[in-house]
Amino acid sequence: MRSLIDIVDFSVEEIQQLLETACDISENPAKYADTCRGKKLATLFFEPSTRTRLSFEAAMYELGGNVLGFSEASSSSASKGESMADTAKMLSCYVDIMAIRHPKEGAPYVAATNASIPVINAGDGGHCHPTQTLADLLTIYREHGRLHDLTIGCCGDLKYGRTVHSLISAFARYANIKFVLISPEELMLPKYVKYEVLEKNGMEYVETTSLEEAIPELDVLYMTRIQRERFDSFDEYERLKDSYILTPEKMAAGKPEMRVLHPLPRVNEISVKVDDDPRAAYFRQALNGKFMRMALILKLLKEAEEGRQMEQMETVEDSRLVCDNPRCICSTEQELPHKFKLVDAQRGIYRCIYCESKKNLI
Ligand code: NCD
Repeated sequence: MRSLIDIVDFSVEEIQQLLETACDISENPAKYADTCRGKKLATLFFEPSTRTRLSFEAAMYELGGNVLGFSEASSSSASKGESMADTAKMLSCYVDIMAIRHPKEGAPYVAATNASIPVINAGDGGHCHPTQTLADLLTIYREHGRLHDLTIGCCGDLKYGRTVHSLISAFARYANIKFVLISPEELMLPKYVKYEVLEKNGMEYVETTSLEEAIPELDVLYMTRIQRERFDSFDEYERLKDSYILTPEKMAAGKPEMRVLHPLPRVNEISVKVDDDPRAAYFRQALNGKFMRMALILKLLKEAEEGRQMEQMETVEDSRLVCDNPRCICSTEQELPHKFKLVDAQRGIYRCIYCESKKNLI
């Protein structure tokens, strides 16, 4: 079944269609009020969330459908040791589509390969968050009128911030995009995103630790929270947590057309004094998230009816290729086969299909 696990599962044309449907939904909500009558969405949230889960639920209700699910792992059978594969097979008997958020990287992919209904990745560990990216793309499209010729600054926790990883993957397919990566040294963008997305696609980017120096050239400033729950050391978090705070004084150096985005929740990286600046687009972005999730549910349910299947990835199993990432779903699900994809034949580089950690066979 067709699912959304990584933003690159959808072509640029498909994303454009989703943007147009989402705009139409926001202008003509009544037209869509019955489009999912009799359909059920399950929201399986093994990790806390406010916006993503509630925007999925609001999206399904506004389409006339129903929602069931849970919002913490302790209230699911996962706490008894049920595997992701079994959860996915069982849920396929009860609902028409499911959205999964999970702390382990690759969990929604495992669900999608075992379910007979569409699966939506609502955030997996520090890996991907494609539906947040759909909300981000709609926001930039509506605010700037284009998704090309933009200088985008990503600021904060670029290491663990999955929304940034998905945003960069999405923009790799649009023309004349420059990324300015603003982070402390310790929280720089992971190498797999840098080499295999930015460099492989010949994208322009710079890395800096200074928000003040970066601001004047930006069309979009994408602020992120320091991801406390993904740190191994609390002291390290304490040391880095206030690395960047956006204030009206810093905003003064930005262009009039610059837009500030944030996937939310904000902790203290944007002062509330910035909220009244017309360039602050983060609450509009949260609303756009609902419209994009409505468009996405409609698309995936339609494709399920048409029997459209997920594209099969070419994978390799080899006893030397073992994923040792403790954040990967295969670290907790013992029976899951360790599968890899070849990403660079010349240099013998393989990546785990669940979490994308690297193994070198040369
Ligand atoms: C983000 C997430 O969950 O990755 N939030 C969201 O989906 N709205 C960002 C975050 O948690 O910091």
